[in-house]
Amino acid sequence: MEDFKKYTVVASGKMRDVAFAKLDETVNLLGWQKGGKIPADEFDKRLAEADALFSTGNIRINEELLAKAPKLKVIAQASVGYDNIDIEACNAHGVLVGNTPGVLVDAVADLAYGLLIDSARHIVRAHEFVKNGLWGERKPFGLTTDLAGKTLGIVGMGDIGSAIAARAQVSKMKVIYNNRHRREDDAKTGAKYVDFSTLLAEADFIVLAVTLNPSTKNLFNAEVIAKLKPTAALINISRGAVVDTDALYDALVNGKLAYAAMDVTSPEPLLGEHKLLTLPNVTVTPHMASATVETRDAMALLTVDNILAGLEGKIMPAQVK
Ligand code: DGY
Repeated sequence: MEDFKKYTVVASGKMRDVAFAKLDETVNLLGWQKGGKIPADEFDKRLAEADALFSTGNIRINEELLAKAPKLKVIAQASVGYDNIDIEACNAHGVLVGNTPGVLVDAVADLAYGLLIDSARHIVRAHEFVKNGLWGERKPFGLTTDLAGKTLGIVGMGDIGSAIAARAQVSKMKVIYNNRHRREDDAKTGAKYVDFSTLLAEADFIVLAVTLNPSTKNLFNAEVIAKLKPTAALINISRGAVVDTDALYDALVNGKLAYAAMDVTSPEPLLGEHKLLTLPNVTVTPHMASATVETRDAMALLTVDNILAGLEGKIMPAQVK
C-alpha cells in the first residue's frame, strides 16, 4: 500500500469539502480550506513543494507555472475542459494531466437545454417583463417560438452533445449534428450527421458543445454566423472563444440572428456593462453549467482519484491523452 503522506498536494483554489476531507486524510495537503484564499507568492512557494496540483479556478498552466514546480508529477483539473493547460509543456515536463469527463454530462446538458428553451420561449425576458410591472399593461409580452418540429443543430457531438440530443427528442425536435467523426449510435440518439454547411443552413437552434482548440477558436465568426438562418438562435455551453463576440453582437443587432443564449462568453467574466447585455435578445449565465452540488462533488472526487492514481504511477480514471 502506497504511503501517500509523503506526497504534497497543492490546490489552486477552494475545493469541495468532500474532496478536501479525502485528500487531507491521505496526503500532505496544502489546500485553501486551511487558511482561506492564499496570496500568489504563497501559491508559488507551495508549488515548489508540490508532487500534485489540484487545479481549479481555470488558472493558466504553462511553461512558466511548470518551471515553478520542479517536483510536480500530476495535475488533476476539476473540469472537463482543459484549454487553460499547455498539454505539450506538461508532456515535456513528464507531468500527467487528468480531467473530469462523464460526471458532469447531465448537469451541463440540463443547462444547455434550459438555455435552448429560453432562447425559444424567452423565459428570462418574460420574468423581467413581469418584474417591471408590465403584465396587464396594454402591450402584451408577445409570442414566442415552438421547439416541436424545429431543427436543432449540435456542433460537437460528444457525451454532452448526445445528452442534449436526447433531451431535444422529448421536445419533438429534429436533431442534426456535426462532429469530427460520425457517431455509430445515431440510431439510438435519433440524431443525424450532416456536414458543417448543411448544419448552418438547416438549424433553427444551434448548440455549441465542442472543445476549444485551434480549429474551433472563433469558429463562429462573422462569415459563419452569416450562414445561419436570421430566425435562428445560438446556444453556447462550450467555451466563449468558440464565438467571435463582436460578430455575434453585430448579427444580433442587425437582425441576422434572432437570439443568443450563453453560459460561456469571451471575455469571461462578462461584466454587467458589456454591450451584449444591452440587447433584448440575449441570455447569459455565469459559466455555471456544471455548478450543482452533486456534480461539483463528483468532479472534485474524480479529481482526487486522478491525483492518487497518478501519484501511484497508475493510469488515472480520467487521464488526458
Ligand atoms: C468544464 O468542466 O469544462 C466546465 O466548463 C466547467 O463548468
